[in-house]
Amino acid sequence: MYSYNRNFLLLMLLPLFVAIVKSNSTKRQSRGDECRSIPGDDSWPTPEDWDSLNDTVEGRLIATVPIAAPCHNDFSTTTTTIDTYNEDQCDSLRRVWFFPETHLPSSSSPMAYTFSHNSCNPFLDPSVSCTLGNLVAYTINATNAWDIQQGLDFAKRHNVRLVIRNTGHDYLGKSTGANSLGLWTHNLKSLELIGYDGVNYTGFAIQMGAGVEAIEAYNFANSHGLVVVGSNCPTVGIAGGYTQGGGYGPLASTHGLSADQVLEWDVLLENGTMITANNTHHSDIFWALGGGGGGTFGVVMSMTVKAFHDNYTSSAYLTVPYNGTNRKDIYGFVSTFLNILPSIVDAGVFARWVVDLTGFTLMPAFVHAMHIGELDVLLKPALDHLDSLKMEYQYSSAENTSFLSAYTSLPLACNVSDFNTGGRLIPRSVVINNTVALVKAIQYISSRAVLIGASFNVKGNMLSPDQVAVNPYIRDALFTAVVGVPVDYTDWTANIKTLDDITDELLPVLEALTPNGGAYLNDGDSQQSGFQSVFYGDHYEQLLQIKRSYDPDHIFWAKTAVGSELWEERDGRLCRVGDY
Ligand SMILES: Cc1cc2nc3c(=O)[nH]c(=O)nc-3n(C[C@H](O)[C@H](O)[C@H](O)COP(=O)(O)OP(=O)(O)OC[C@H]3O[C@@H](n4cnc5c(N)ncnc54)[C@H](O)[C@@H]3O)c2cc1C
Ligand SMILES: *[C@@H]1O[C@H](CO)[C@@H](O)[C@H](O)[C@H]1NC(C)=O
Ligand SMILES: *[C@@H]1O[C@H](CO)[C@@H](O)[C@H](O)[C@H]1NC(C)=O
Ligand SMILES: *[C@@H]1O[C@H](CO)[C@@H](O)[C@H](O)[C@H]1NC(C)=O
Ligand SMILES: *[C@@H]1O[C@H](CO)[C@@H](O)[C@H](O)[C@H]1NC(C)=O
Ligand SMILES: *[C@@H]1O[C@H](CO)[C@@H](O)[C@H](O)[C@H]1NC(C)=O
Ligand SMILES: *[C@@H]1O[C@H](CO)[C@@H](O)[C@H](O)[C@H]1NC(C)=O
Ligand SMILES: *[C@@H]1O[C@H](CO)[C@@H](O)[C@H](O)[C@H]1NC(C)=O
Ligand SMILES: *[C@@H]1O[C@H](CO)[C@@H](O)[C@H](O)[C@H]1NC(C)=O
Ligand SMILES: *[C@@H]1O[C@H](CO)[C@@H](O)[C@H](O)[C@H]1NC(C)=O
Ligand SMILES: *[C@@H]1O[C@H](CO)[C@@H](O)[C@H](O)[C@H]1NC(C)=O
Repeated sequence: MYSYNRNFLLLMLLPLFVAIVKSNSTKRQSRGDECRSIPGDDSWPTPEDWDSLNDTVEGRLIATVPIAAPCHNDFSTTTTTIDTYNEDQCDSLRRVWFFPETHLPSSSSPMAYTFSHNSCNPFLDPSVSCTLGNLVAYTINATNAWDIQQGLDFAKRHNVRLVIRNTGHDYLGKSTGANSLGLWTHNLKSLELIGYDGVNYTGFAIQMGAGVEAIEAYNFANSHGLVVVGSNCPTVGIAGGYTQGGGYGPLASTHGLSADQVLEWDVLLENGTMITANNTHHSDIFWALGGGGGGTFGVVMSMTVKAFHDNYTSSAYLTVPYNGTNRKDIYGFVSTFLNILPSIVDAGVFARWVVDLTGFTLMPAFVHAMHIGELDVLLKPALDHLDSLKMEYQYSSAENTSFLSAYTSLPLACNVSDFNTGGRLIPRSVVINNTVALVKAIQYISSRAVLIGASFNVKGNMLSPDQVAVNPYIRDALFTAVVGVPVDYTDWTANIKTLDDITDELLPVLEALTPNGGAYLNDGDSQQSGFQSVFYGDHYEQLLQIKRSYDPDHIFWAKTAVGSELWEERDGRLCRVGDY
């Protein structure tokens, strides 16, 4: 194995030993805690308990009222019912429901609607009930470490389920949960430029609070003539689930994944201790946070990432519309496009393309430090193919003077709440050696769903794929194929069936082409069987050991997170079904 891993194993031994010694005493205390408390249980906090928590966090405790409550006659919990209907508010909410900005200021609303469990649906009749369902029950609107520490301590004392929520973007339902206390990091917005002088990196770095969104980081970097690696969607929380899950974006093919850029994490552990983890101090949790998944190891308060000099940036768009008769030509084109895709991403381009019944769209090809002429040349074989078949298409390209000006010119659609999703990583070898079968699979999926290919070369400058926790399988992937099926807001049974279709009908055609393959944990299938190896690859066992040493009492739990198989959700309860 790599030398990194040998050091790593040595570092592992100590915490493991500590965990084994500790487990006897913690077991006895937690015997009665087979499930987390729910209202009605003796251990569920009394109103006075909640009030005193609210006092210690200076009034920053929020009791959830779902944002769609104005669309219902009333909202009820186990203890109260309040009148909530307001036609005007409901109408305005419906108009903006699909945009992330509607959910960002909420302490509870998951953007991936399905994971609310349909408990307060803005599009149904006001007489339909509005309840908490799978939303957090209370949330601490954190401004500092103290607020989070109080939440951790309270949840442990009262056996209450905890959920870490940042932007609520998560597609797999990881930032919501029934009868839980939310720790809301969205308002931790600090940003600081650092001249970093570390063991293996000297240069500019940016330390950003856990609540910083991609666009906020891009703006800050730009004001210093710099860029940082972040997501495509401007509102994704960059130090939250995004980088902790790996994180790809417009700079992925030039600098690698977001997790590859991290120099330090400031983390609150479940026992309230704040640590700074880097490659030499707490290097095990440092490694784990770099792609081992959000909501698992601790509460990240901030991270420090490498920043790079800004430069001119080019982007291009291509639309090949379905015209009623050219279905065969479109998939012939997809085949050509896939063949040139390796050369495109290897030149530093990030390419996001979409295939559905309306045709093919490249939106965008994006590249930092490349002039427009060079990008046009890279895409020319695709256009030549279209010209030779006299296919109709629209192509445009542009060059801007900075990353930010190119980025803000992109027509980005980040409305999350309209799709159920799942995904699969597609390795280069499949694209190159099995193109026909792959195009057939893409044709099958895109006739029933939207298929998005986010394409990159993230081999980067890593010493080895084991340097961070991200599923090593992603390093040889040419794209992540994300499947989206519209959420059905009016027929819940049909909506659940679309989730099952993703799992049982659509993704299996990609799985058949990628046996023992992987998926990117932030756009994978929430129902993925064997998620341990599919999402984490052969890093899973190491991640579970680290989880055990830093979170011996399972304070952090999220769907498909490391160790999540030891608990299950059961009628609003989170119950233990196994031990480390
Ligand atoms: C429209 C859209 C576009 C996207 N584009 C991209 C993209 O270009 N590239 C990409 O890689 N991904 C992308 N994603 C996926 C994105 O990375 C994930 O949704 C990610 O989980 C978002 O992290 P968040 O912190 O903003 O969200 P949240 O939903 O708030 O949190 C996600 C997870 O992280 C945990 N978490 C959040 N904050 C912390 C913290 N401070 N400490 C510990 N755990 C924490 C939560 O508990 C949860 O498990 C996109 C998602 C959407 C919906
Ligand atoms: C917490 O206190 C603030 C300020 O007094 C109040 O507005 C808020 O409603 C309280 N939260 C809860 C859950 O009672
Ligand atoms: C959360 O706190 C911030 C200040 O940090 C405040 O601006 C915001 O309104 C609060 N949000 C809610 C929902 O209380
Ligand atoms: C990690 O942090 C410690 C303490 O600040 C520092 O001494 C050490 O050099 C850092 N390691 C790296 C790799 O920068
Ligand atoms: C620094 O890089 C060298 C190789 O370039 C590597 O062997 C070493 O482990 C790295 N050290 C840290 C602390 O990252
Ligand atoms: C911009 O990119 C070009 C091409 O890669 C490079 O030569 C130049 O040094 C870059 N400029 C800066 C400021 O990094
Ligand atoms: C559709 O496009 C194909 C080329 O892909 C062309 O041959 C055909 O004539 C077009 N049909 C219409 C109705 O424009
Ligand atoms: C980016 O470049 C395009 C094409 O030149 C131009 O239309 C657009 O206004 C530029 N965007 C910004 C923000 O400067
Ligand atoms: C999502 O956003 C896109 C682009 O803004 C828009 O065309 C589409 O209609 C939106 N979907 C919904 C359901 O609002
Ligand atoms: C494609 O298949 C050939 C022959 O089996 C093999 O040598 C080659 O490595 C494969 N290419 C990739 C990219 O996997
Ligand atoms: C908290 O947990 C960490 C990691 O297990 C440990 O090093 C530290 O001593 C603990 N702190 C307290 C106050 O127990």
